[in-house]
Amino acid sequence: MTKLSWTGFSKKTPQERKEHLKKNALLSQENQDLLDKDQQLTLETANQMAENVIGRFTLPFAVCPDVLLVDGVTYQVPMVTEEPSVVAAASYASKLIKRSGGFTTTIHNRQMIGQVALFDVPDKDDASRKIQAASQNLIEIAKEAHPSIVKRGGGPRKLWTETKGDFLIVYLAVDTQEAMGANMVNTMMEALVPELENLSKGQSLMAILSNLATESLVTATCRLSTRFLSRNKEEAHDLAKKMEMASQLAQVDPYRAATHNKGIFNGIDALVIATGNDWRAVEAGSHAYASKDGSYRGLSTWTYDQEAKELVGELTLPMPIATRGGSIGLNPSASIAHDLLNHPDAKTLASIIVSLGLAQNLAALKALTSTGIQAGHMKLQAKSLALLAGASPEEMPQVLAELLKAKHMNQETAQAILEKLRTP
Ligand code: HMG
Repeated sequence: MTKLSWTGFSKKTPQERKEHLKKNALLSQENQDLLDKDQQLTLETANQMAENVIGRFTLPFAVCPDVLLVDGVTYQVPMVTEEPSVVAAASYASKLIKRSGGFTTTIHNRQMIGQVALFDVPDKDDASRKIQAASQNLIEIAKEAHPSIVKRGGGPRKLWTETKGDFLIVYLAVDTQEAMGANMVNTMMEALVPELENLSKGQSLMAILSNLATESLVTATCRLSTRFLSRNKEEAHDLAKKMEMASQLAQVDPYRAATHNKGIFNGIDALVIATGNDWRAVEAGSHAYASKDGSYRGLSTWTYDQEAKELVGELTLPMPIATRGGSIGLNPSASIAHDLLNHPDAKTLASIIVSLGLAQNLAALKALTSTGIQAGHMKLQAKSLALLAGASPEEMPQVLAELLKAKHMNQETAQAILEKLRTP
């Protein structure tokens, strides 16, 4: 079968894009059929996934096509987002980075952390010593609580204690293999409670997974040749300097850091949601990690290597991501997303996600330090404004053309343009 080129993918209709995926044999027959049928989650399944269900809430499902190069492999990246310009920005920046050699990633580890918080412990130092001495036995108790993960090669790996305020906290690091592992870690932590209370002579306040997944850190780096920022050497140099400054600003001002990180999560959430993962867990862990040295900071850094004429980007995030379990096997759209990515394992998926976040951040910083965000973003936002005003597909081209020329691009203007167009 001759594979089709991805050039012009953004100019196609949704039907043509689906045909493109079919011709490039990216989806299984079953998922191809689901895509043709609009891949809806059935009401019956939805009703099993949450409580008091009355329907299904849908969002745009897009693809960032053939440009995200991570550790030598180019991915077709599924993205679920309601925000205009996110997919365009991810595609644009990934393309620039691909031309410069793509992303390189490092998986520092892949374990989840659970904790049991003990209170009313009469002698915390003594209790801590006893718990450490019994750690092998405690790890065995945790293994017995969830034997299936041990059979699959995972399971509890390390146990340690820390005293924080009035609490003696016991932490357990667990290799959860392809799962995110919240349920298995919670089961293990609850199983440890009786023995921990016995050893410490205290009481357990709670036993639960931590979303600050510092044992699941992933780093993505890239080196962008500044010639891709502008053909004009001086302009490229100035822009690289400003982008480095934008990164510094996000290190010193939490107001800017929050928006800087939101831009990173434009991409990350879109892929985390598409692959059926828990985006609240990823967000909570990353924002806690952004404050790890006591002040909330930008999660990515960009430095300008003037000698090499390269902008060097780096992003490290806790990425407790799964390819099995949770809603992944239940939501047909998530299955299509995993097909598009060619079924990476959890570690590879984590690398793809962090790389996409760094690409998304590059696009935003480039726009912010050059044309300003509104130029590119509002061009694409115009479609949403026209839709909100009630423009039909036939009216859309004319409303868009007028809206892009208007002094104030907002919904009121879109409505006024539409009314004028409809007046005989
Ligand atoms: P441009 O230079 O006008 O784009 O940038 P272009 O028309 O020359 O196209 C370049 C490439 O961009 C295309 O290549 C596509 O890959 C992609 P081609 O396919 O033509 O060979 N592209 C598109 N892909 C799909 N559909 C489209 C489309 N248009 C371009 N319609 C662009 C335009 C939007 C890319 C640029 O201005 C940009 O990256 N802007 C940043 C937008 C952004 O970050 N949006 C997120 C929402 S704003 C926000 O929430 C975050 C923020 O606050 C974060 C922060 O402050 O850090 C900004």
